[in-house]
Amino acid sequence: MTSSNPIGVFDSGVGGLSVLREIRRELPHEDLLYVADSGHAPYGDKPGHQIEARAVAITEFLLGRNAKAIVVACNTATSAAVATLRGRYTIPIVAMEPAVKPAAAHTKSGVVGVLATSRTLGSDNFARLHERFGADVKILMQACPGLVELVEAGNLSGDETRTLLERYIKPLLEQHADTLVLGCTHYPFLAPLIREIAGPSVAILDPAAAIARELRRRLDSIAMLSQAKRDGEEYFWTSGSQNTARPVIAQLWKNGIDVQPFPDIATR
Ligand code: DGL
Repeated sequence: MTSSNPIGVFDSGVGGLSVLREIRRELPHEDLLYVADSGHAPYGDKPGHQIEARAVAITEFLLGRNAKAIVVACNTATSAAVATLRGRYTIPIVAMEPAVKPAAAHTKSGVVGVLATSRTLGSDNFARLHERFGADVKILMQACPGLVELVEAGNLSGDETRTLLERYIKPLLEQHADTLVLGCTHYPFLAPLIREIAGPSVAILDPAAAIARELRRRLDSIAMLSQAKRDGEEYFWTSGSQNTARPVIAQLWKNGIDVQPFPDIATR
């Protein structure tokens, strides 16, 4: 293992690209491997053991490509699988946490809305966050079924997306939430629409930049930050249909990228 090895990043689909862009900003010289498990998205309605099996299979694949660290760029996979991954592998495993702590520090109204998958909101990790911060502020939990599928289809601003977002966000505003936590990595791609619906005075928190800083800290602490001077490269795989994934990844990342098929291993 050397510091020039790449960093592996994965999500149930294209949502983790919102984390990948912060990693790219923070670590311009690193090579980045990204797996979109779109063939198995959404994770939010799958049983925990299935998500765990996917997380292990993808991590093995990334380790096979010499990843020096893994970023679980998915809140749902974090709650289902991060303990297993950390128990099995010795390289740094950096994972998501909904930004409830900064939200609790930021809110003036004392009401925070968390948008996430129902699996994330029902997880032990989230229960711990709720216990820690829920005594000081009111935490409104809003599951958002359907949003992941819309982002996967590249539908970031259509009528269907707006209607669904209004349905999820308006009740939070009516209950005086002044801070919204994006607890799913797909949702930052909907931030412009969320901003329109919530208005200028509501804070919208995404932990991706903090995750990228944490990744830098972890790599630095084991002297594994790349010493390269050249720009890092990105490599993409998807377990979903190439024809669907390529244009959406191009839309959310940049044009002209190559997306390879993820060599899928049957997992239950
Ligand atoms: N991006 C994933 C997350 O952060 C989406 C989960 C899903 O596929 O349902 O939770």
